[in-house]
Formats: sequence, C-alpha cells, structure tokens
Amino acid sequence: MTRNPYLPYPARIEQVFVENEARDIKSFRLAFEDPCGAAEFQYMPGQFAELSLPGVGEAPFGIASSPTEAGLLFTVKRVGLFTAELHSLEEGARIGVRGPLGKAFPWDRMAGKNLLIIGGGFAFTTLRAAIRYILDPANRARFGSVLVIYGARTPDELMYRGELAAWQARDDLAVHLTVDKADKDWTQHEGVVTNVLEGLKPCPENTLAIICGPPIMIKFTLLSLSKLGFSDGAIILSLEMRMKCGIGKCGRCNIGSQYVCKDGPVFTREQLKALPTEY
Ligand SMILES: Cc1cc2nc3c(=O)[nH]c(=O)nc-3n(C[C@H](O)[C@H](O)[C@H](O)COP(=O)(O)OP(=O)(O)OC[C@H]3O[C@@H](n4cnc5c(N)ncnc54)[C@H](O)[C@@H]3O)c2cc1C
Ligand code: FES
Repeated sequence: MTRNPYLPYPARIEQVFVENEARDIKSFRLAFEDPCGAAEFQYMPGQFAELSLPGVGEAPFGIASSPTEAGLLFTVKRVGLFTAELHSLEEGARIGVRGPLGKAFPWDRMAGKNLLIIGGGFAFTTLRAAIRYILDPANRARFGSVLVIYGARTPDELMYRGELAAWQARDDLAVHLTVDKADKDWTQHEGVVTNVLEGLKPCPENTLAIICGPPIMIKFTLLSLSKLGFSDGAIILSLEMRMKCGIGKCGRCNIGSQYVCKDGPVFTREQLKALPTEY
C-alpha cells in the first residue's frame, strides 16, 4: 500500500549542536523511532523534508546529512514560531519528519564531471550533504576534481567549521573560504565569493557548477560564471520558496507551471530561464 504522503515518520532528536550562537543557528541530528521509517526514508543530497511538532505546525528544511552517514541532520536558523519551538527542544524530544521531498542534485549527470560548489551564508546545508556524499570512500572516484568556494559575512558566520578545516587538510578537494569582513585571526580570503571565483578561474570544460546562497550572491555568481564560460545548462541552483504541502498539491510554491517543492528545489539555470521571473 502507498504511504500517505502527509504522514510524518516519528523521530527523536539524538544530538543538538549550537552551530552559530550569534546568528541563532542550531544543528539537530535525528534518528527514526521505527527501523521501517529509516529503511523507507531513502534520500539523496539536495532533497528536503518537512519537520513537524504537534500543536505547532511543520516547516521545510534542506537535509544537511548525506545518506552515507548515520542519522538525519538539519541545520536551522531561528526566525519565527516553528523554528523557535524547535530550538527550545533538547536531546530525546520527539519530532515528525515528512519526506524525503523534492528533487536531489542531478547525481547521475554529476558522475564523471568536475564539480564547482559555491555556497554563501547559511544556505550551505545541502551543499554540506553533497560534499559529504562525494567524499565518501565508496563515491569519491566517481567524480573529477572538486572545488568548493564558501563565503560568509564574518569568520564566525561560516557553518560546520570543524568539517571545513578537515576538508581543507585533504588533497582530494580544494576548499576556499572567504569572508566579507575579516577579524584579526583570519588568514584566508577576504571579499565576496565572486572575487575568489574570478581569481581562481575554474575551467568550464566538463564541469558542473552547483550554487546555494542568498539571492544577491546567486545573482552576481551567475554573472561571474557566464564570464568564465559556464553554459546555463551547466549551472545548478537550489531555490528556497515559501512552501506548505511540499508535494505539489497546494499551489503555494509554483513559478509558472513548475512547483518548486516537487519539480525542484534543484533546477538548472537553463530551466529557470524558461520560467517567469518570480523567484
Ligand atoms: C526547500 C527549503 C529548504 C529550507 N531549508 C532550510 C534550512 O536548511 N535551514 C533553515 O534554517 N531554513 C530553511 N528553510 C527556511 C525555513 O523553512 C523557514 O525558515 C521556516 O519555515 C520558518 O518557520 P517559522 O515558523 O520559524 O517562521 P515564520 O513565522 O513562518 O516566519 C518568520 C520569518 O521568516 C521568513 N520565512 C519563513 N519561511 C521562509 C522561507 N521559506 N524563505 C525565506 N524566508 C522565510 C518569514 O517571511 C518571516 O519573516 C528552507 C525552506 C525551504 C522552502
Ligand atoms: S508547497 Fe504545495 S505545491 Fe509546493
């Protein structure tokens, strides 16, 4: 029998970490209560889920973990009612997880390609999932070179700092970090991600660019990628529209004929150019 798509899987919060105190961001590692839930919830990086709390509601969040690691990770900024309630929860609390929802990054198309991964600010969650997936020993050989450029306003606004340092110590990917405003301890790039991108001049040949970030970063990154010779079909973006059902039924997230929740949130720039400019 097909599972009711509105029904969440019961899960528990196994771990809570403060990712960024000043910006009110926490990460939550969840475990399904029922082993069948864990077996059924087959996802790939790029997808999202609706998290739910009884009596509060539900809200969509990108899945920040890779299926190659244990548990489901979400990184959540406290902005309103749902996220404030989630932030108040401790390890052991129960939560609903509905999904996985939406389209993942195009993993079949990414195989054999060089990957240019560009992230900005707090939208690095599904990119973290993608990098973890690519670096898994069972997967790394399936991809070419991996270049990551990640920018934030200040050094303490970079997320997953322990992992970023571990990735920078590896020789099978290059990770460039940049901040708009350095502090006295910062020794890496200073300036916006497009400065780093244009300085590094990655070759567009056999390369796919994957971008997640705030709209202003995306706008200027697209201009830089065009200058570098990346075609619209080689640029992959993930959109964050307001959503409700997450399964293409309520019409909350549509852009023209496309539902961002069901047909996206991952699109190529070529696909987006064919849509009305509402996003
Ligand atoms: C596909 C997808 C993936 C997402 N992934 C993440 C994630 O990994 N981490 C994370 O912290 N958030 C993520 N979001 C945003 C998250 O869903 C909202 O922050 C959340 O719904 C806010 O709920 P709330 O009840 O706390 O706030 P509300 O009371 O609903 O709103 C508070 C404020 O946040 C703004 N807001 C609410 N939803 C959105 C949205 N979707 N986009 C922009 N502004 C919004 C409102 O305009 C308002 O100003 C994602 C959204 C989508 C659609
Ligand atoms: S959120 Fe309901 S149709 Fe997309």
